Amino acid sequence: MAILYTVLDDHELASRHVAGLMVSTINRHPSCTLGLATGSTPMSVYENLCRRYQAGELSFQGITTFNLDEYVALPEGHPQSYLAYMRENFFDHVDLDESKTHLPAAHQINENVSATVISDRYENEIENLGGIDWQLLGIGVNGHIGFNEPGATIDSPTRLVDLAASTIEANSRFFETVGQVPKQAITMGIGTILKARKIVLLATGAAKAEAVASAINGPVTSDNPASFLQTHSDVLFVLDREAASAIA
Ligand code: F6R
Repeated sequence: MAILYTVLDDHELASRHVAGLMVSTINRHPSCTLGLATGSTPMSVYENLCRRYQAGELSFQGITTFNLDEYVALPEGHPQSYLAYMRENFFDHVDLDESKTHLPAAHQINENVSATVISDRYENEIENLGGIDWQLLGIGVNGHIGFNEPGATIDSPTRLVDLAASTIEANSRFFETVGQVPKQAITMGIGTILKARKIVLLATGAAKAEAVASAINGPVTSDNPASFLQTHSDVLFVLDREAASAIA
């Protein structure tokens, strides 16, 4: 199935567009379940959502959220954890019910509780709460979605993964040294992501252009995990001009 995409002039307009799609989804379905992403790309989406919440345009009270991923080997709430990111950029500024927000509990892994237990629990929680209605994704320069790096299979579940060298390098900008970047994460699998009823992928900037073009026009292959989105019937890529620049 061809992936639909829309191109906006720049990062801010693309972010505003995605926030607008989320606002109308939430206003139509005030108790829906959102899948959320972290990283640099969605920051202005969250900013837009917070602004529109403060302007009284919507409420998140009935909303349930599941984040895509969390680093392993960081204590809970570590400043570089995705939980801290979500609190700082979104959760602390809106009326979300904290008990309805979820991230993989990677900090709970220890000698008695394996990553598999934590991953299976997350997968079951998503399923038990009725699945994800609307999933926000970013994309890595290598085509990863969530932390499903090249090599990930189409039916992969939530699991422990090793981060690719290029991901560790790209994410080192958030840490003091590259050595501090966690080498592993728990991520929703490609199979988990593909179960979402609607998927919106936001990509901006020239660095993402090749990954975006091959996800849309290339073969469906684990060499570019985002290409698996071609098999889903309701996917939209929201791009800025730079991220769209390599699409044939
Ligand atoms: C984040 C995630 C990743 C990012 C991707 C792009 O939760 O799952 O797939 O979306 O690494 O990151 P940025 O937006 O920082 O370029």
